Amino acid sequence: SSVEGNVCLLDELKNIFEIAITSAYPNLVDPPIVLTLSGNNPKFGDYQCNSAMPISHLLKSMNVSTNPREVANNILNKTPTSPLIERIEVAGAGFLNIYLNKKFAEHVLNCILQYGVRPPPVKRERVIVDFSSPNIAKEMHVGHLRSTIIGDSICRILEFLNHDVLRLNHLGDWGTQFGMLIAHLQDQFPDYKTCSPPISDLQAFYKESKKRFDEDEEFKKRAYSCVVQLQSGQPDYIAAWKLICEVSRREFQKIYDRLDIRIIDRGESFYQSRMDAVVKELKDSGFLEEDEGRLIMWGDPVTHEGIPLTVVKSDGGYTYDTSDITAIKQRVDEEKGDRFIYVTDAGQYTHFVTIDACARRAGILKNSQKIEHVGFGVVLGEDKKKFKTRSGDTVKLIELLDEGLKRSLDKLVEKGRDKVLTPEELKKAQEAVAYGCIKYADLSHNRVNDYVFSFDKMLDDKGNTAVYLLYAVTRIRSIARNAQVSETKLLEEAMKSGFKLEHVTEWKLGKVLLRFPEVILKVANDLYLHSLCEYLYEISSTFTEFYDKCYCIQKDKSGNIVDISYERLMLCEVTAKVMEKCLEILGIKTVSKM
Ligand code: ARG
Repeated sequence: SSVEGNVCLLDELKNIFEIAITSAYPNLVDPPIVLTLSGNNPKFGDYQCNSAMPISHLLKSMNVSTNPREVANNILNKTPTSPLIERIEVAGAGFLNIYLNKKFAEHVLNCILQYGVRPPPVKRERVIVDFSSPNIAKEMHVGHLRSTIIGDSICRILEFLNHDVLRLNHLGDWGTQFGMLIAHLQDQFPDYKTCSPPISDLQAFYKESKKRFDEDEEFKKRAYSCVVQLQSGQPDYIAAWKLICEVSRREFQKIYDRLDIRIIDRGESFYQSRMDAVVKELKDSGFLEEDEGRLIMWGDPVTHEGIPLTVVKSDGGYTYDTSDITAIKQRVDEEKGDRFIYVTDAGQYTHFVTIDACARRAGILKNSQKIEHVGFGVVLGEDKKKFKTRSGDTVKLIELLDEGLKRSLDKLVEKGRDKVLTPEELKKAQEAVAYGCIKYADLSHNRVNDYVFSFDKMLDDKGNTAVYLLYAVTRIRSIARNAQVSETKLLEEAMKSGFKLEHVTEWKLGKVLLRFPEVILKVANDLYLHSLCEYLYEISSTFTEFYDKCYCIQKDKSGNIVDISYERLMLCEVTAKVMEKCLEILGIKTVSKM
């Protein structure tokens, strides 16, 4: 097969060793094919096949006397020749150390230079990603910011792999809180039907109505009757509800625009019309049990493990649970999803386990279909306590983004960049740094852990930060630009002579770049984005090692260029391309100057 730039080495090697192992041991059913990256020590090769030990164990249990080294040698003898592999050594207790073929690597890098960074081929799936999902009239808090950032990046990686991705905002846009909001709206803005009320601060509006609801019995009664009117579809009440949702959405949209997030609004209200049917179906099939007037459903009716769903409240109303069980049915039956991803704080883990179990019980989810809950920890302030403003209020997201902008500008001015860049360039750099650092700080930590929000740390230009990486990319890009070598010229040179990975640091960098497809496939599978960040940082530090040792441009004492290494400039170019693609997947914009 022709070798393209998007080949996943790990998978190719797995295939090769599967052939070797099944032909060396044709009697073993599903023999273990264990392939890993060798790690930093070059004497263990680039990749390792560690199947010999478990196979030797298996054979012993079948009373075949052997040892792992013998098994390793048998596998080696059956390994077909491959353009990927330069040589294989049996080492230690029976490791197979695999050394990659340099010619092959050079060819792959050349493909990336010619055709760009392309995704490894995968079977196309329809993936539903439920993320961001703030609640109308309540604030969008830092937890929703995490969901927004992580969810967007998950969508980007799946879209890069050409999956059919549906980005859904499961807004909390339905429920009893609308009763008091509508009642309050009627009092505050009696003409809301003819002119749009000037509600600038919906959170304050929510607080006011909540206060009245708690203190005023009369108001409380009215709020309840508003809920009834709304749920029965009274046009005036629907209009009021829509109005309130609109005000909220406008606020959310400001955040999405700034962070460059695309998402489709499809809140809890969307599923209302489908709920009666779903509830009836669950009831008719005998899945619902009565519990103090409520109708509940257990994931496991025998063990009663976890917590049951409340499908119908004692007053006959529906809940968050009802909307989620209806939503999963809609996503399976109507959206024809293959994968169902939900990005929320770790606190909702049990909720989604129960939704999965109940949907499976009810036959909504079939065998291999499952709910994937992408959980994350809470955001902490630098004092390691819950993230709050100095005065103890919750942090408004817009203000947080504004502070990011201010801090990133300070940083650029501190470096004197305002004197070098044009105002437009400076603004672009400011935004790239501010939003980039907020996203990267979130994505570069293992999402299951709590994380400490610190502008000082995320704006540091040393270490694994967005600022460091953005500088690295602009610096790499400037190497060829300063030597006035155009991309066309590089392509010409690559056609003529190809890559030459001669120096150890060139070879090392080349091999890191070749791992891009396997990193992408792993992340698209386990949805842990910090591994992509770690990879990005590894590229960057391996590049620095190379750049310290190998000249790309040689100048004489008076600064005139005396020699240009096109091969090395080509390697710079591919490095920049792979880094830019990783940053794009993380939702981070690069700039050509900063
Ligand atoms: N609105 C919910 C919250 O703020 C998140 C919704 C997540 N998605 C879902 N399908 N339940 O906690």
